[in-house]
Amino acid sequence: MRAFSLIAHDRIDSKLGAWSSTMSSCSSTLQSAKSSSNLCPPAVDDGDDKVLMTVDVCLKETSSAPYPEVKARVAELLASQQLRFGNAQLNFLSASHDGYLDQHVKSINLVCERANHPAIQEGTKLLFWQVEFAIYVFQLCAEGPADSEDSEDGISAYREFELPAREFHGLWESLIYDEAVKQRLVTYAATALYFSDRQVDQQLIAFNRTVLLHGPAGTGKTSLCKALAQHLSVRFQYRYRHAQLIEVNAHSLFSKYFSESGKLVGRLFARIQEQVEEKDTLVFVLIDEVESLTSARQSAVAGNEPADAIRAVNALLTQLDALKAHTNVMVLTTSNITEAIDLAFLDRADIKAFIGPPSWQARYEILRSCITELQAKSVLEGHFKALPPFAEAMATCVLQV
Ligand SMILES: Nc1ncnc2c1ncn2[C@@H]1O[C@H](COP(=O)(O)OP(=O)(O)O)[C@@H](O)[C@H]1O
Ligand SMILES: [Mg+2]
Repeated sequence: MRAFSLIAHDRIDSKLGAWSSTMSSCSSTLQSAKSSSNLCPPAVDDGDDKVLMTVDVCLKETSSAPYPEVKARVAELLASQQLRFGNAQLNFLSASHDGYLDQHVKSINLVCERANHPAIQEGTKLLFWQVEFAIYVFQLCAEGPADSEDSEDGISAYREFELPAREFHGLWESLIYDEAVKQRLVTYAATALYFSDRQVDQQLIAFNRTVLLHGPAGTGKTSLCKALAQHLSVRFQYRYRHAQLIEVNAHSLFSKYFSESGKLVGRLFARIQEQVEEKDTLVFVLIDEVESLTSARQSAVAGNEPADAIRAVNALLTQLDALKAHTNVMVLTTSNITEAIDLAFLDRADIKAFIGPPSWQARYEILRSCITELQAKSVLEGHFKALPPFAEAMATCVLQV
């Protein structure tokens, strides 16, 4: 089954494979907690034959519109639209005569999460009864990232982003992968956060809330981690009032300033601890290029680096373990060199997803999104026609041959 082939072969992964099917029931339980409050999960019917369409409604920074009001108006607007299966940005300004939405809403993105019917493919027209909407209203944080203050020698051990951040807006939609890579990551992460929140016994069902994306450089791993954190911050806003991404600079922790490493790791985790103690804050810790941990450890063992390098790596692993006690934190990691990942670290990751080079279909779609953007912004003008989706383009090619 290709669906879980991205996940490497260990005991936890096989359990997660089985859990993924139970996730839909988790989400319905979550939804049953729905209240009239502004911060409630959207209603999702898990009916078999429905397409689940996620609708991300981003409010303007100046808006103070109540979320339920915006949600109701967007639902009305969607009911009046002819929809097709596929991801799209709803050009609501031309679609609506609703001055309220024009005034308050910055963008509306539609993402088709699931189609259980084989006849529903990219571009298929959807009738209203075939679609179930999950509408999420959110506002981007106006503040930019904050660097840590370890800069005696210009080292900054981490950066903090308040989520959903302006910097990551649209990133999730812009990343194009084959199969359901993104959906699988969301399902896993949401399951792990949900289990933690429900205090599921980790002795019985082991999960560390740790994700590892590995593969060649430039395949979007770092972007995917940031986008996932942003995406989840919106999905879980009914549960957590705030969300934070702490981006750890592993290179600066373990490169040339080994003598400082211990102190930096200490300060970093003191800060993470401060954040996770706020129970209504969801914290994501991003450790990019974790292979630098391994090289630090190997250099230390070979005697090329001072012994405090290995102490610092061990301290980091111990601190990561200590985070397990907190239910509101998730660790996202990446590596460009799969073979060089620290074994101790590998063991801690529940999900190890290989992110390889994109297929022809994904390449076509990436280029199509670039061209569409250039057309939308009138950089490409003249006789250029809008490029069709991959399936349509292939059908045309076959007919022409
Ligand atoms: N599948 C993809 N779809 C769209 N853009 C991508 C994809 N993969 C990579 N990119 C783009 O390539 C650039 C490099 O991505 P990055 O996240 O730094 O890769 P990595 O961490 O794997 O080296 C980013 O601008 C990212 O948006
Ligand atoms: Mg990277």
